[in-house]
Amino acid sequence: MGIPILRTVAELRSIVAVWRRDGLKVAVVPTMGALHEGHLSLVRAALAKADRVIVTLFVNPKQFNSPADLIAYPRTEYDDAVKLAPLGAHILYAPDAADVYPQGFATTVSVSAVSEGLCGAFRPGHFDGVATVVTKLFLQTGADMAFFGEKDFQQLHVVRRLVRDLDIPIDIIASPTVREDDGLAMSSRNARLSAAERSAAPRLAEILFETARRLDRDHCIDRVLVEARQAILAAGFSQVEYLDLRADEDVAIIAAPNRPARLLVAAWLGQTRLIDNVEVWSPRGRVEGFVEAAAAA
Ligand code: PAF
Repeated sequence: MGIPILRTVAELRSIVAVWRRDGLKVAVVPTMGALHEGHLSLVRAALAKADRVIVTLFVNPKQFNSPADLIAYPRTEYDDAVKLAPLGAHILYAPDAADVYPQGFATTVSVSAVSEGLCGAFRPGHFDGVATVVTKLFLQTGADMAFFGEKDFQQLHVVRRLVRDLDIPIDIIASPTVREDDGLAMSSRNARLSAAERSAAPRLAEILFETARRLDRDHCIDRVLVEARQAILAAGFSQVEYLDLRADEDVAIIAAPNRPARLLVAAWLGQTRLIDNVEVWSPRGRVEGFVEAAAAA
């Protein structure tokens, strides 16, 4: 049986009200569609914790700072619904933009500090768009828990902050980045890579993991990061927007190996912007991407 697709918040709320009356726990997995194994792993994690799982599919115009990027974003609702059905997710909520942002819509949710720097510096307005739509999706679904991938690490922290600041009663649960067998972090944008770019792309993750290992023994952070940038450019990337070390807990800037950290990168390969991140100085030890991909296969 296919997954039911709902378009309006009224339909969604009437179903969730019945679930709530029956005492069921509800999870939401927010997505922009073009689902890949990373999204499906979030859906599986949600199904393991909640009684009912809503997957949202909305290509949110407010988070695209380039109109061309919004137009080029893949829209594959039918395929997405086909991928979700066998997993047992309960609802695909795919509202129209005119319903999410009706005439006169005038509210923006803006999260300072954690939205600044990294992707926030290169994609003006992006996190306002994310924060606004995520707040709406949380309020519309009334879910008890929401699942996000660690690949969008800064986004995860923006969402955690807004939930705390606005007292939204929802648990934010993060799942590790899912990688291809060669280490490339899964992303809807990977489909845009040419064959030559696709073979160069895994170097980004390799360099991140190598750099994280190097930072375990070499604490001259600035030098290590400069050399890692050079390695990314030498691998065929045209621009490194940022390669930064931030606190794992709150993405604050750190300059010394005094707490668990994340090494985060955004870099352009041809016309495609790729982001990724890995743990550094983690008390849990580092999960190596290739091992993780093999375990997931
Ligand atoms: O990560 C995404 O796909 C989007 O930013 C999200 C969280 C679904 C909001 O549109």
